[in-house]
Amino acid sequence: MKAMPLETNNPRVHLVEPELERDAQLGVQWLHGDIGRNTLQLMGVSDEDNKPTTLEQEKQRVTEFIEKPDQLNWMIDYDGKVVGSIWVDLEPKDSMPSPAIHIMIGDPSVRGKGVGFSATSKVVEYLEEQFNKSIYSRHLVKNSAARSLLGALGFKDMGDPYTDEDGLQWQNVKKTNNDFDRDNL
Ligand SMILES: CC(C)(COP(=O)(O)OP(=O)(O)OC[C@H]1O[C@@H](n2cnc3c(N)ncnc32)[C@H](O)[C@@H]1OP(=O)(O)O)[C@@H](O)C(=O)NCCC(=O)NCCS
Repeated sequence: MKAMPLETNNPRVHLVEPELERDAQLGVQWLHGDIGRNTLQLMGVSDEDNKPTTLEQEKQRVTEFIEKPDQLNWMIDYDGKVVGSIWVDLEPKDSMPSPAIHIMIGDPSVRGKGVGFSATSKVVEYLEEQFNKSIYSRHLVKNSAARSLLGALGFKDMGDPYTDEDGLQWQNVKKTNNDFDRDNL
């Protein structure tokens, strides 16, 4: 579902509501060609599913983004241009408890500039205020950018890495909310 717009601590980075036409076109752009294959690989999409998308498929995906009641979704605006998305699963999955954060900066030219950090730290702050719970995420073991980003925000490894049905190695991480964890012992 669309979440309310949020201002990050970086004046160049804003979290804005998804918009069907704009974001479907961006999705096609981001997932096109070698760059798109690499982005989806970093996100843990299996080779079998790692394919370019069409405008129709992206429209369907963005519509789900907007309508799904168990997910919060924002698009990431950097200097007035939408460069990625960040979303939160509100219900637990087999692979992870909730709330769980996921992020993708679709445009590689803006990676490594602190955009992911600003966006994720704001969503963490928002979730801590809203839910007063620990927050979860996961990354491929080989995804060093995601590991650095989550580590810098205070996420710690939950146990050892594990291998999924596609043979991908994942690490689950958790940002502990001490008040919540003490109350739920
Ligand atoms: C992973 C990803 C979200 C990171 O976002 P990003 O904008 O590229 O990363 P940032 O520039 O914010 O952070 C990168 C580094 O700067 C650090 N950093 C950035 N701003 C910071 C700040 N203000 N204070 C402290 N640390 C900061 C990060 O911790 C990280 O550390 P490193 O230098 O050791 O690598 C992005 O690269 C991406 O979307 N990649 C493709 C898809 C993907 O991998 N998604 C994640 C799936 S789990």
